[in-house]
Amino acid sequence: MRCLVARVNYKTLIVICAVFTLITVLLWNRCSNEPPPSPAHPPPAPTAEADALDRPEAPPIAREVPYEEIECLINEDTTIKGRREGAEVFLPFTWVEKYFGVYGRIAQYDGAERFEFSHSYSKVYTQREPYHPDGVFMSFEGYNVEVRERVKCISGAEGVPVSTQWGPQGYFYPIQIAQYGLSHYSKNLTERPPSVELYDRPEGTVEGPSPWTIPKGCALTRVRDFARATSTRQFSAPDNCPGISLILGNSRDFVLAFDVKFLTNGSVSVVLETSEKGPPFVIHYVTSSLLLAYKEREVTYGIGARAVWSTVTRDLLTDLRKGVGLSNTKVARPVRVVPRRVVELQLRGSGFIDNITISSTAHRAAFLCASRWLLRHQDERGGWPIWVARRLGEGFRPLEPGWYSAMAQGQAMSTLVRAYLLTHDPAFLSAALRATGPLKRTVDQHGVRAVFMNKFDWYEEYPTTPSSFVLNGFIYALIGLYDVAETAGDKLGREAEVLFSRGIESLKAMLPLFDTGSGTVYDLRHFVLGTAPNVARWDYHTTHINQLQLLASFHSTPIFRDYLKRWKTYLKGGRAKHN
Ligand SMILES: *[C@@H]1O[C@H](CO)[C@@H](O)[C@H](O)[C@H]1NC(C)=O
Ligand SMILES: *[C@@H]1O[C@H](CO)[C@@H](O)[C@H](O)[C@H]1NC(C)=O
Ligand SMILES: *[C@@H]1O[C@H](CO)[C@@H](O)[C@H](O)[C@H]1NC(C)=O
Repeated sequence: MRCLVARVNYKTLIVICAVFTLITVLLWNRCSNEPPPSPAHPPPAPTAEADALDRPEAPPIAREVPYEEIECLINEDTTIKGRREGAEVFLPFTWVEKYFGVYGRIAQYDGAERFEFSHSYSKVYTQREPYHPDGVFMSFEGYNVEVRERVKCISGAEGVPVSTQWGPQGYFYPIQIAQYGLSHYSKNLTERPPSVELYDRPEGTVEGPSPWTIPKGCALTRVRDFARATSTRQFSAPDNCPGISLILGNSRDFVLAFDVKFLTNGSVSVVLETSEKGPPFVIHYVTSSLLLAYKEREVTYGIGARAVWSTVTRDLLTDLRKGVGLSNTKVARPVRVVPRRVVELQLRGSGFIDNITISSTAHRAAFLCASRWLLRHQDERGGWPIWVARRLGEGFRPLEPGWYSAMAQGQAMSTLVRAYLLTHDPAFLSAALRATGPLKRTVDQHGVRAVFMNKFDWYEEYPTTPSSFVLNGFIYALIGLYDVAETAGDKLGREAEVLFSRGIESLKAMLPLFDTGSGTVYDLRHFVLGTAPNVARWDYHTTHINQLQLLASFHSTPIFRDYLKRWKTYLKGGRAKHN
């Protein structure tokens, strides 16, 4: 899995470095225009005491620091220009940054500027309480899966993200879908309840002029739906009618939801005023299988036939930005357009609509969309095959479309268990139990289980040949197994419990192989292929730490404790002792 945690924007860093270098050069020029101080007679440095005694009221005098340029020979190889101040030598930060892979920027602090240096860019989160299968998932409340560049959009028909990570055409990637679900589940538990505004309340509860506009040739009536014990709107807006509209006028929130059932093809459209000058944007949700289209301020999402009642929940901000940023590459173009006001809703075609709301968030709905997608798309082996080819790197045979991932299985288990605990629908639990299937089978048998040194079972995020032993994907699989074992109980959950315990034994034995003494490695390719170690980026290093913290919160063992402590020091430049 790639890039879990928000990363430092490198462009910003580069700009800051460029500015810093410019400032350096400017100062330098000024310094070198002055005659250099004679080294034989350095100006006496005023001491603080002397100042205080002689001139107590005088303003501080800016001291000219006697910097000199000095040539610095690097590794007997290249030379760069540094600066010398007495016995101290300064190397340019742009050089330090590249050489050591560290980070720094000029920041505002207390109205002044200061230089802020850090060894890594990623932060560890604190495990608040012992982990539980119905609680927050790790630090996922901070994830925003939908805004990631490699999410093409949220599918209108499925309500889950479409990935472009390994192919610009877009495909459903079970790991990303589970993470979308788990992040919204965690946000539901940690954020404030949303504000919800209901439109077109049943008769008798609103006064004043009707918010509906019904042009000639269109019809709108209120009908009782006895099956649903509610009264709904029936609409009919055939092709020769411009559409029925409902004034919304909401400038605060941007998550639209409605229950709908279409009798013909049709659409629900939303008119949005935005930060852009010019006419408003329109987002059309149409009864088709189209994924996403954009043309001249009109964004279109297909929502499927919707011939039976279902709820459509859409984050208009995400839908607008993904639409405007639509591109044919792997990354959606970044777009800054901000919705300012949801002006109105328009109905075309004929059908029924009910419960039109705009709210600040709809985390539960997003979570349930992800959970139901997993339910609908699990195959007969209990897996979620991934339909893109994947090359992990030179030396590994590429994975052909249709491979399973232990990480997808694990994250799906964690999602489905939560859906079961929330809804008590047993279908979610049986899907979670069946998801252990690919973990029981070896990679040769189209499963995900590898064995390290003929001894330790390992659930492979990428079931490559030869094995790759990716650490973070393995731990996500363990967490999923734990969720299933804890929730299903001794009898039903027995298999998951055995798989979990074997995995924990492997982890305890193999954790030392991932420690470089100053960071961690992502996988064991240095051992398997004999190549250079695949050193984990800082966000993966902190993922390793966050995952171990989660495990240690219910499975206390000295090796987890000791490794956690040491791995955290690496984030601030700590290193294991040398001999
Ligand atoms: C979480 O879901 C519950 C149940 O649907 C709801 O009452 C609550 O307002 C939601 N909170 C947030 C922050 O989404
Ligand atoms: C509208 O919401 C109410 C309350 O949640 C629900 O009982 C009703 O079934 C919903 N209408 C439709 C058509 O689903
Ligand atoms: C909607 O349009 C599609 C494609 O034109 C057609 O196949 C389908 O039958 C239509 N559905 C309805 C309910 O009219």
